[in-house]
Amino acid sequence: MEPLGLHGAVVRAAGSAEPVSIDGGRFLLVANLDGAREVLTRDDDFTLPFDVTRQSIRIPHEQGRTKDFPPLSAAATQHGREVFVAELDSVDLPPEPDALAVLRLPVARSTTASVVPDASLADRDRIAELVLAWVDALAPIISADRPPTRWSAVRRTERRVRRGLFAALRSAGVDDPAVVATALAAGVQVPIAAGAWCLVLLAQDATLQRRLREDPSLGTAFVWEVLRLYPPTWLIARITTRAVEIGQAPVPAYRPVVVSPVALGRLPELVPGPEHGVAGLDRIDVDRWAGGTHRPGTWLPFGAGRHACPGRSLGLAQLVAVVGWAGGLDLEPTAPLGIDADRGLAPAPSAVRVRPRPAGS
Ligand code: HEM
Repeated sequence: MEPLGLHGAVVRAAGSAEPVSIDGGRFLLVANLDGAREVLTRDDDFTLPFDVTRQSIRIPHEQGRTKDFPPLSAAATQHGREVFVAELDSVDLPPEPDALAVLRLPVARSTTASVVPDASLADRDRIAELVLAWVDALAPIISADRPPTRWSAVRRTERRVRRGLFAALRSAGVDDPAVVATALAAGVQVPIAAGAWCLVLLAQDATLQRRLREDPSLGTAFVWEVLRLYPPTWLIARITTRAVEIGQAPVPAYRPVVVSPVALGRLPELVPGPEHGVAGLDRIDVDRWAGGTHRPGTWLPFGAGRHACPGRSLGLAQLVAVVGWAGGLDLEPTAPLGIDADRGLAPAPSAVRVRPRPAGS
């Protein structure tokens, strides 16, 4: 599939030595690894442009005031993984499920179990529902061309849902509901999209399904390939806090800058390609990582620096579990592969056709 629009522009810019102006000049894209690392790790020069509700973070007033969510512990990750596997096993699949819809509740319960481990089962399920409602309420705000005004209907709905979520978190004993709610939203929406990509891409390729079924250890390589070509967080945004240089290029103060794992994931220095006997970098190939010549993940699908993903291990575990679960199904496409790049990358359409596999086959 030939990448189009903004997605296509980002793919074409891969490897540029200089920052590239994209999206009609709205952003500067930094599409080489050294530059991307600078943007994500020079905290004094680059900061988050807005919070999760798309309210801008005032610079330099609020710099350093945002509280970071710590990486999930190994025990929390393991707990989230177990909940996810159990939830997937009890999913009741219609013949043509929407991959995004199928994964909503399992991911939301799994991530909530991991992030709020002491919540009772009833509280966990209630919080998971409210996180999904909040993510849904945020969607029109995130995908609007301009941030909606404070008193618009979408903002009012979002506030109401957010307050409900905060109240549920408080009553489950969470001290800092704003920080935890934000972590939950980030940790629910992205794995749902990534998991849906896994299912939709598997549905497109019967041979790949057979290979993964015969050798489940290839599941992790497939997950890395999905996160290379279709990382849900494909534009990681920052804004300059002052006039800076990226590499040699001067960039003015308060300039929005993005780093893209989609662009970095096509760099031959990071990803083994045809010269290593595997497919071109625009194709999924689970054998790509077998030689051990390159380390997967160097294209930053989980970001880097201070804001790097604290749920990386859980996210990977969830995706590997989705692929393992899909091994018990025969998946077929309902339409050619399409991309919705409105808020993160998601497959569109996201329906797949499912036939349960006879036991033992
Ligand atoms: C496949 C799954 C996932 C992917 C691809 C992913 C990707 C990312 C990326 C690229 C960032 C950096 C954003 C930035 O720098 O602006 C990020 C941040 C974050 N992720 Fe994930 N993520 C995943 C799963 C999760 C899970 C399961 C959690 C559960 C808690 C989580 C929680 C967060 C949080 C709280 C942040 C914000 C960190 C901060 O700003 O300090 N993510 N994620």
